[in-house]
Amino acid sequence: MMITATKKPNETAVDEPNANRRRLLGWLTGFGLFGSAILSAFSNFIFIKPRATYGPPQRFTIGKPDEFPPGTRLALEERRVCVVREGNRMAAISTTCTHLGCIVGISDTGFACPCHGSRFDTDGNVTGGPAPKPLPWFKVTLAPNGELEVDKDAEIEPGSYLNL
Ligand code: FES
Repeated sequence: MMITATKKPNETAVDEPNANRRRLLGWLTGFGLFGSAILSAFSNFIFIKPRATYGPPQRFTIGKPDEFPPGTRLALEERRVCVVREGNRMAAISTTCTHLGCIVGISDTGFACPCHGSRFDTDGNVTGGPAPKPLPWFKVTLAPNGELEVDKDAEIEPGSYLNL
């Protein structure tokens, strides 16, 4: 007598939904792990990236020479410089006191510091008070667009003007 294995009629039909469910769970797990890895990498990147601010730029434009008529002595408070125009010569003198860094104001005789009373002449030389050094002069150039550009990273010899 010969015995033959017979397949139950619904055997594959019962396994197919389980296999689909396992495959779906596998995909969901994979996507979850992949998403977690991406999120973790992004978070680490944000954490590692420095958030330092370096203050305002030290090189900036202040406008066209025509905006500063001869005789101008104009303090740009936010830039901490005084723009000077004498005839066709221009300069930028620091308004940061060389004593402890207060902002000096323009006075009849030059500059005056409100904090501890230092006085400077119109060229920034110390004439009184505790300031140890004269006010620095910064390089002024004409940018390609015709505007004046001040570079506070470039100190120049006092009395060195830009000739227009
Ligand atoms: S900070 Fe200007 S005199 Fe002291």
